[in-house]
Parts: sequence; C-alpha cells; structure tokens
Amino acid sequence: MEIIIQPDSRTASAVAARIVAARVREKPHAVLGFATGATPLEMYRALVDMHKTEGLDFGLVTAFNLDEYVGLPANHPGSYRTYMREHLFRHINIAPDRINIPDGATPDIPTCCRGYEERIHAAGGIDIQILGIGTDGHLGFNEPTSSLASRTRIKTLTAQTRRDNAAIFGGERKVPHHVITMGLGTIMACRTCLLLAFGEKKARAVAAAVEGPLTAMVPASVLQMHPQAVFVLDEEAASLLTRTDYYKWVYANKPDWQKS
Ligand code: F6R
Repeated sequence: MEIIIQPDSRTASAVAARIVAARVREKPHAVLGFATGATPLEMYRALVDMHKTEGLDFGLVTAFNLDEYVGLPANHPGSYRTYMREHLFRHINIAPDRINIPDGATPDIPTCCRGYEERIHAAGGIDIQILGIGTDGHLGFNEPTSSLASRTRIKTLTAQTRRDNAAIFGGERKVPHHVITMGLGTIMACRTCLLLAFGEKKARAVAAAVEGPLTAMVPASVLQMHPQAVFVLDEEAASLLTRTDYYKWVYANKPDWQKS
C-alpha cells in the first residue's frame, strides 16, 4: 500500500488527478473505474481542467462506474449516471458508447450484473479504479460483512450509509435501500486502486482499513492484499494513522523510477 498524505483535499485531489492523467497519457485506451460521492469531486474538476487547458484526451478511454442505486431511472437527480454526466462526462471528450454504469432500472438484476462483469473483462480489465471509503469502511457499496471475493451484484445499504447519502435525495427516507455494486473481488482485480479520503469523519475508517486487521467488517481492509493500492488522504483523514511519519518519508523520498 502506498499512503500519500497531503495538507488538504485540494492538493490531495491534484495529486490523484495527476496519477490518473499520467495513466491516460501513457495508455490512451486506458480503462478507468469511477466512483461518485463528495470525495472525488475536486479530482474530477482537476481532470476537467487538464482536459481544457492541457488537452488531456479521453477520446479512447473506457469508463466503468462502481455502483448505482436500484430502482432509479437513469435521469433521476440522485442517480450516479446523472452525477457522472454533470461532474465529469459532459465536460470531457469521452465517447458515450464507452461509458458503463450499472443499470439500476433493469428488470433483471442478475443478468445485468453478469453482463457488467463480462463487459469489464472484454475491455481488458480496469487500469485504475478510483475509490472513496464509507464511514463504515465500505468500498463501492460493499457494506461490512460483504464477501471479500464478491463480484458485481445487488447489495442492501446500511442505515448509516443511507444517512450519509441523504442530502442529495432530500431526506433519508427517500434514499433507496438497494444498489448494484462491483464486488470486492471485482475491485481487487483492477490493476491500480486509487482511494481518496478527506476529512475527520473518514479517519476511523481509514485507520481501520490501512492499519487494522484484514476483515470483512471493514471491507476496505481488503486493499491490504492488493499489489497496487494507493491511498491519497488529507491530514484529517490520516489523523488516526500511527505511522504517518513513515508514510510521509516514503513519499517524499520516492525514487524517480517509482514516480508517476
Ligand atoms: C460511490 C461509492 C462509495 C463512496 C463512499 C464515500 O460510488 O462507491 O463507496 O465512495 O460512500 O462517499 P463520499 O465521498 O460521499 O463520502
């Protein structure tokens, strides 16, 4: 695991955006996995900015989103399809037929989930999967006790996650109970996992994921088994880690050949 700690979410988002941009530049056909929520917004703004000012080209990129609410039409303001369109896709030159988001309105969820896994496989696998982390340690919408080997499927949100996501729906009661999410096994198959976490409210989950035991009770701890997992944190999200001096030293003294 590589732990990158930055003074604030703005600089952390810029670091994360540079990692994604470097991969797109070296591999124009890159397959990118996207996350939603509050955390990646500044990174998406930075990528849009690089597209506009530096010509960062998404023309050949393929996108797969982590998850989607079940039962929402694609154009619902709370759907992740809407989120991605508004915050990233309509601002860059990604081809619409290369955008993949689980279909939360499908009448046949098992077939939709199997098809999603097949599409990821057919695209050659995901090069970089962007991730946030839930206050309960969830990854994607793999809530505590999710199988560490799981694949894309339907999951039930915890009360905590529905509370955390209530704002966009105008109240907790309106947040769907079910989601389609890539599984932890799906995420573990991605070549690089890039997890972003900002703010004090993520500190406990980050410490448990990075320095706690590997356990399905903290789904993000599965990344301890990933060969290329990068955590980009602000100081607050890193505040309960015990080895911050070491992580900072490692990052500051990274040899050139390791830099992205
Ligand atoms: C979103 C997702 C979730 C979020 C997590 C953090 O696609 O899969 O795991 O990354 O709930 O959400 P925020 O960033 O809103 O705190």
